[in-house]
Amino acid sequence: MRERAVSLPALTEIAHRAVARAFEARALPKGGDGVPAFPFAVGATAGNGYDAVFLARQVGEGGLIAAFDVQEAALAATRDRLAAEGLLGRVRLVRSGHEHMERELARLFPALELRGKVTAIMFNLGFLPGSDKAVTTAAPTTVAALDAASRLLACGGVLSAHVYTGHRGGMEEDRAVLAWSAALSPEEWRVLSLSQPNKARNLERLILAERLFPKGKGGAGRP
Ligand SMILES: C[S@@+](CC[C@H](N)C(=O)[O-])C[C@H]1O[C@@H](n2cnc3c(N)ncnc32)[C@H](O)[C@@H]1O
Repeated sequence: MRERAVSLPALTEIAHRAVARAFEARALPKGGDGVPAFPFAVGATAGNGYDAVFLARQVGEGGLIAAFDVQEAALAATRDRLAAEGLLGRVRLVRSGHEHMERELARLFPALELRGKVTAIMFNLGFLPGSDKAVTTAAPTTVAALDAASRLLACGGVLSAHVYTGHRGGMEEDRAVLAWSAALSPEEWRVLSLSQPNKARNLERLILAERLFPKGKGGAGRP
Protein backbone atom coordinates (compact mmCIF):
# COMPACT_ATOMS: atom_id res chain seq x y z
CA MET A 1 0.00 0.00 0.00
CA ARG A 2 1.30 3.47 -0.81
CA GLU A 3 2.18 5.65 2.18
CA ARG A 4 -0.10 8.67 2.56
CA ALA A 5 1.77 11.86 1.86
CA VAL A 6 1.74 14.56 4.52
CA SER A 7 2.21 18.23 3.79
CA LEU A 8 4.06 19.41 6.88
CA PRO A 9 7.81 18.89 6.59
CA ALA A 10 9.70 16.50 8.85
CA LEU A 11 11.84 18.18 11.51
CA THR A 12 14.96 16.85 9.74
CA GLU A 13 13.91 18.64 6.58
CA ILE A 14 13.35 21.87 8.52
CA ALA A 15 16.80 21.55 10.14
CA HIS A 16 18.43 21.01 6.74
CA ARG A 17 16.60 23.98 5.25
CA ALA A 18 17.69 26.28 8.10
CA VAL A 19 21.31 25.17 7.79
CA ALA A 20 21.22 25.55 4.00
CA ARG A 21 20.01 29.13 4.49
CA ALA A 22 23.03 29.88 6.69
CA PHE A 23 25.27 28.75 3.85
CA GLU A 24 23.24 30.65 1.26
CA ALA A 25 23.56 33.79 3.39
CA ARG A 26 27.31 33.28 3.16
CA ALA A 27 27.90 33.34 6.91
CA LEU A 28 31.32 32.09 6.02
CA PRO A 29 34.76 32.66 7.44
CA LYS A 30 36.78 35.16 5.47
CA GLY A 31 40.33 33.92 5.87
CA GLY A 32 43.19 35.84 7.43
CA ASP A 33 45.43 35.03 10.37
CA GLY A 34 44.66 31.44 11.32
CA VAL A 35 41.07 31.82 10.12
CA PRO A 36 40.01 29.20 7.59
CA ALA A 37 39.35 30.75 4.21
CA PHE A 38 36.80 28.00 3.56
CA PRO A 39 33.44 27.02 4.99
CA PHE A 40 33.60 24.77 8.02
CA ALA A 41 30.79 22.75 9.64
CA VAL A 42 30.48 20.21 12.44
CA GLY A 43 28.32 17.09 12.57
CA ALA A 44 28.10 16.52 16.31
CA THR A 45 26.58 13.01 15.99
CA ALA A 46 27.71 11.16 12.88
CA GLY A 47 25.30 8.23 13.27
CA ASN A 48 24.58 6.71 9.88
CA GLY A 49 26.08 9.67 8.06
CA TYR A 50 23.02 11.39 6.58
CA ASP A 51 23.80 14.76 8.18
CA ALA A 52 27.49 14.39 7.31
CA VAL A 53 26.61 13.92 3.62
CA PHE A 54 24.27 16.91 3.80
CA LEU A 55 26.90 19.13 5.48
CA ALA A 56 29.64 17.97 3.11
CA ARG A 57 27.47 19.09 0.19
CA GLN A 58 26.77 22.42 1.89
CA VAL A 59 30.42 23.33 2.52
CA GLY A 60 31.16 22.59 -1.12
CA GLU A 61 34.44 21.79 -2.77
CA GLY A 62 37.24 23.23 -0.68
CA GLY A 63 35.08 23.24 2.46
CA LEU A 64 35.55 20.93 5.41
CA ILE A 65 33.47 19.26 8.07
CA ALA A 66 34.35 17.36 11.24
CA ALA A 67 31.92 14.57 12.19
CA PHE A 68 31.98 13.22 15.76
CA ASP A 69 30.71 9.95 17.16
CA VAL A 70 31.65 7.72 20.06
CA GLN A 71 30.90 4.48 18.17
CA GLU A 72 33.16 2.96 15.55
CA ALA A 73 30.08 1.40 13.87
CA ALA A 74 28.62 4.86 13.32
CA LEU A 75 31.86 6.26 11.93
CA ALA A 76 32.18 3.24 9.61
CA ALA A 77 28.62 3.75 8.31
CA THR A 78 29.32 7.47 7.84
CA ARG A 79 32.59 6.75 6.05
CA ASP A 80 30.85 4.32 3.66
CA ARG A 81 28.04 6.75 2.91
CA LEU A 82 30.43 9.63 2.27
CA ALA A 83 32.66 7.46 0.08
CA ALA A 84 29.65 6.32 -1.97
CA GLU A 85 28.83 9.99 -2.60
CA GLY A 86 32.44 10.93 -3.38
CA LEU A 87 32.50 13.30 -0.38
CA LEU A 88 34.97 11.62 1.98
CA GLY A 89 37.71 14.11 1.14
CA ARG A 90 35.71 16.94 2.71
CA VAL A 91 35.22 15.21 6.06
CA ARG A 92 37.35 14.43 9.12
CA LEU A 93 35.77 11.62 11.15
CA VAL A 94 36.48 11.94 14.85
CA ARG A 95 35.94 9.12 17.34
CA SER A 96 35.29 11.23 20.39
CA GLY A 97 32.39 12.56 22.43
CA HIS A 98 31.08 15.85 21.04
CA GLU A 99 31.57 17.38 24.48
CA HIS A 100 35.28 17.42 23.59
CA MET A 101 34.80 19.10 20.22
CA GLU A 102 36.85 22.22 21.00
CA ARG A 103 39.82 20.17 22.20
CA GLU A 104 39.57 17.76 19.26
CA LEU A 105 39.25 20.51 16.64
CA ALA A 106 42.29 22.29 18.11
CA ARG A 107 44.22 19.00 17.94
CA LEU A 108 43.16 18.24 14.35
CA PHE A 109 43.51 21.77 13.01
CA PRO A 110 46.19 23.41 15.16
CA ALA A 111 46.73 26.20 12.63
CA LEU A 112 43.07 27.23 12.56
CA GLU A 113 41.22 29.39 15.05
CA LEU A 114 37.73 27.97 14.68
CA ARG A 115 36.07 29.78 17.57
CA GLY A 116 33.34 31.96 16.05
CA LYS A 117 34.10 30.67 12.55
CA VAL A 118 31.89 27.61 12.04
CA THR A 119 28.86 28.07 9.75
CA ALA A 120 26.72 25.16 10.97
CA ILE A 121 26.74 22.61 13.77
CA MET A 122 24.17 19.81 13.74
CA PHE A 123 23.14 17.53 16.60
CA ASN A 124 20.90 14.54 15.96
CA LEU A 125 20.48 13.07 19.42
CA GLY A 126 19.50 9.65 20.72
CA PHE A 127 20.81 6.26 19.58
CA LEU A 128 22.27 4.92 16.36
CA PRO A 129 19.28 3.79 14.26
CA GLY A 130 19.42 0.01 13.81
CA SER A 131 21.57 -0.44 16.94
CA ASP A 132 20.57 -2.06 20.24
CA LYS A 133 20.20 1.42 21.84
CA ALA A 134 22.94 0.59 24.36
CA VAL A 135 24.77 3.84 23.51
CA THR A 136 22.77 7.05 23.49
CA THR A 137 23.50 10.71 23.87
CA ALA A 138 22.90 11.99 27.41
CA ALA A 139 21.83 15.31 28.92
CA PRO A 140 25.08 16.31 30.72
CA THR A 141 27.42 15.66 27.76
CA THR A 142 24.90 17.07 25.28
CA VAL A 143 24.67 20.32 27.22
CA ALA A 144 28.48 20.54 27.47
CA ALA A 145 28.67 20.00 23.69
CA LEU A 146 26.00 22.63 23.02
CA ASP A 147 28.01 25.12 25.11
CA ALA A 148 31.13 24.31 23.06
CA ALA A 149 29.17 24.58 19.81
CA SER A 150 27.80 27.98 20.79
CA ARG A 151 31.38 29.25 21.16
CA LEU A 152 32.44 27.84 17.78
CA LEU A 153 29.51 29.11 15.73
CA ALA A 154 30.00 32.12 13.44
CA CYS A 155 27.62 35.09 13.46
CA GLY A 156 24.91 34.16 10.97
CA GLY A 157 25.68 30.49 11.59
CA VAL A 158 23.01 27.97 12.60
CA LEU A 159 23.06 25.31 15.30
CA SER A 160 20.43 22.58 15.11
CA ALA A 161 19.60 20.06 17.83
CA HIS A 162 17.08 17.36 16.97
CA VAL A 163 15.96 15.58 20.12
CA TYR A 164 14.25 12.18 20.25
CA THR A 165 12.69 11.13 23.53
CA GLY A 166 11.96 7.46 22.84
CA HIS A 167 14.90 6.10 24.79
CA ARG A 168 15.92 5.99 28.43
CA GLY A 169 17.02 9.50 29.43
CA GLY A 170 15.37 11.00 26.34
CA MET A 171 12.86 13.13 28.26
CA GLU A 172 15.58 14.42 30.59
CA GLU A 173 17.72 15.28 27.56
CA ASP A 174 14.78 17.10 25.95
CA ARG A 175 14.24 19.21 29.08
CA ALA A 176 17.96 19.97 29.29
CA VAL A 177 18.26 21.00 25.64
CA LEU A 178 15.15 23.18 25.87
CA ALA A 179 16.43 24.84 29.06
CA TRP A 180 19.84 25.37 27.43
CA SER A 181 18.24 27.09 24.44
CA ALA A 182 15.95 29.20 26.62
CA ALA A 183 18.97 30.58 28.48
CA LEU A 184 20.62 31.95 25.30
CA SER A 185 20.66 35.74 25.23
CA PRO A 186 17.96 37.11 22.88
CA GLU A 187 20.36 39.91 21.93
CA GLU A 188 22.84 37.36 20.58
CA TRP A 189 20.66 34.46 19.47
CA ARG A 190 17.45 33.86 17.55
CA VAL A 191 16.02 30.58 18.81
CA LEU A 192 13.17 28.41 17.56
CA SER A 193 11.72 25.35 19.25
CA LEU A 194 9.50 23.03 17.21
CA SER A 195 7.83 20.03 18.83
CA GLN A 196 4.77 17.85 18.73
CA PRO A 197 2.48 19.08 21.54
CA ASN A 198 -0.16 16.42 20.87
CA LYS A 199 2.24 13.52 21.40
CA ALA A 200 2.64 12.14 24.90
CA ARG A 201 5.26 9.53 24.00
CA ASN A 202 8.29 9.49 21.74
CA LEU A 203 7.98 13.14 20.86
CA GLU A 204 10.67 14.84 18.84
CA ARG A 205 11.86 18.40 19.26
CA LEU A 206 13.97 20.55 17.00
CA ILE A 207 15.89 23.48 18.42
CA LEU A 208 17.32 25.91 15.89
CA ALA A 209 19.61 28.66 17.12
CA GLU A 210 21.11 31.33 14.90
CA ARG A 211 23.95 33.41 16.26
CA LEU A 212 23.09 37.01 15.46
CA PHE A 213 25.49 39.62 14.16
CA PRO A 214 26.28 42.27 16.76
CA LYS A 215 24.01 45.31 16.35
CA GLY A 216 25.18 47.51 13.51
CA LYS A 217 27.08 44.68 11.86
CA GLY A 218 24.16 42.74 10.38
CA GLY A 219 22.18 43.53 7.26
CA ALA A 220 24.39 45.30 4.76
CA GLY A 221 27.43 44.53 6.90
CA ARG A 222 26.89 40.80 6.57
CA PRO A 223 29.69 38.92 4.89
C1 LIG B 1 20.47 9.59 16.21
S1 LIG B 1 22.13 9.10 15.92
C2 LIG B 1 22.68 10.30 14.78
C3 LIG B 1 22.09 10.19 13.39
C4 LIG B 1 22.91 10.92 12.34
N1 LIG B 1 22.93 12.35 12.52
C5 LIG B 1 22.58 10.59 10.90
O1 LIG B 1 22.49 11.51 10.06
O2 LIG B 1 22.44 9.40 10.60
C6 LIG B 1 22.94 9.55 17.43
C7 LIG B 1 24.41 9.21 17.44
O3 LIG B 1 25.00 9.88 18.55
C8 LIG B 1 26.11 9.12 18.95
N2 LIG B 1 26.58 9.58 20.28
C9 LIG B 1 26.21 9.18 21.51
N3 LIG B 1 26.87 9.88 22.45
C10 LIG B 1 27.68 10.74 21.79
C11 LIG B 1 28.63 11.72 22.20
N4 LIG B 1 28.85 11.98 23.51
N5 LIG B 1 29.30 12.39 21.25
C12 LIG B 1 29.10 12.15 19.93
N6 LIG B 1 28.20 11.24 19.48
C13 LIG B 1 27.51 10.54 20.40
C14 LIG B 1 25.61 7.70 18.90
O4 LIG B 1 26.69 6.79 18.84
C15 LIG B 1 24.77 7.73 17.62
O5 LIG B 1 25.48 7.25 16.53
